[in-house]
Amino acid sequence: MVKRWLPWTLAVVLLGAAIPALAQTGRLEIFSWWAGDEGPALEALIRRYNQLYPQVTVENATVTGGAGVVAKAVLKTRMLGGEPPDSFQVHAGQELIGTWVVANRMEDLTFLFRQEGWMDKFPPALLEQISTPQGIWSVPVNIHRSNVMWYRPEKLREWGVQPPRTWDDFLRIAPDLARRGVTPLVLGESWTVQHLWESVALAVLGPDDYLRLWNRKLSFTDAKAVAVWQLFDRILAHTNRDAAGLSWQHAVDRVVQGEAAFNVMGDWAAGYMATTLRLVPGQGFGWAAAPGTSGVFMWLSDSFGLPQGARNRPNVINWLRLLGSREGQDIFNPLKGSIAARLDSDLGPYNAYLRSAANDWRTNRIVGSLVHGTVAKEAFMSEFATVMGIFLTSRNPRAAASAAQAIADQVGLGR
Ligand code: GAL
Repeated sequence: MVKRWLPWTLAVVLLGAAIPALAQTGRLEIFSWWAGDEGPALEALIRRYNQLYPQVTVENATVTGGAGVVAKAVLKTRMLGGEPPDSFQVHAGQELIGTWVVANRMEDLTFLFRQEGWMDKFPPALLEQISTPQGIWSVPVNIHRSNVMWYRPEKLREWGVQPPRTWDDFLRIAPDLARRGVTPLVLGESWTVQHLWESVALAVLGPDDYLRLWNRKLSFTDAKAVAVWQLFDRILAHTNRDAAGLSWQHAVDRVVQGEAAFNVMGDWAAGYMATTLRLVPGQGFGWAAAPGTSGVFMWLSDSFGLPQGARNRPNVINWLRLLGSREGQDIFNPLKGSIAARLDSDLGPYNAYLRSAANDWRTNRIVGSLVHGTVAKEAFMSEFATVMGIFLTSRNPRAAASAAQAIADQVGLGR
């Protein structure tokens, strides 16, 4: 009896699993800044979506530009013009909540988190980051680390230097590297300069004061915070002059080619070096916490949401389902250079760098990134470029500090 039922039961289960795939048709536009050589992880996820929903035409709408500097502007025009993409990349937290959630342009995804049993599958602090009392606003696909310093082990051996543990160490070895014609620290376009700044801020302030800056307990004009700009100034003296013309990938290339010794960049650099350049972590490239930040993991998370009025809502929901699933996260992250946001990821397909990041994520002190939308509202973050501009033209730490404070007051940072 049991035997006779088994094939039928199996057939019904399989058919049941196949029904949603067959039923879904139409289109799905996925909007992000993961273009070109930043694209493989997203493309792998889209391939899986295509297998699950073969009748849906996916439009992979990317807008080139690291950290979303261009994509965010395009998104703004589309959202304000009532033409939202079906789903878009956004950093988990204030970057979405302070913009499109407060403007009532997003759908609450609590129903999906409940349906999929996700309420206890993500770290509680991350859930908190993507929620307001009114709802849960996006599905996090990863955890990236901002405060990482990258280098070429064989080159460091050739030059007889170690990865600096502190910025003082760096300032000591930099002149000798420069004498050899090597750029001590390579920078790229504007946002990568801000990216370096947040690691320097963490090193100077330590995790407690760094966090106090974002909840307004420490003023930007406090001597401790001014000291960040003072050290930043000394570090900038050992960077390349053509930074403005380089993408973050170009900057990483300089390290890979042995023209520069170090680069401070988020671990999407590991994705680029391992997946696109096919370098072996630990051999082709090495890593360390940015100087003075060992034991602290500065995090950020990429996520996707569901805008109100999305034309292909059911297809978006299936996309979000895949993004938030363990399978989806373990397809995406090993290629992306990030670790899964979920707590139950299978580290099997993750490389040596990612395993070390997963270990640090579990054991380090955790603080959020400014540049990638974690600790401050978007209004502050977008104005921070002006603060940096003031500093780069004046090289005046006090002027930069009071500009930062003025913007914090103006946008109501931390409130
Ligand atoms: C970050 C994003 C990463 C990566 C990086 C460079 O803001 O979170 O996933 O795309 O920009 O473009």
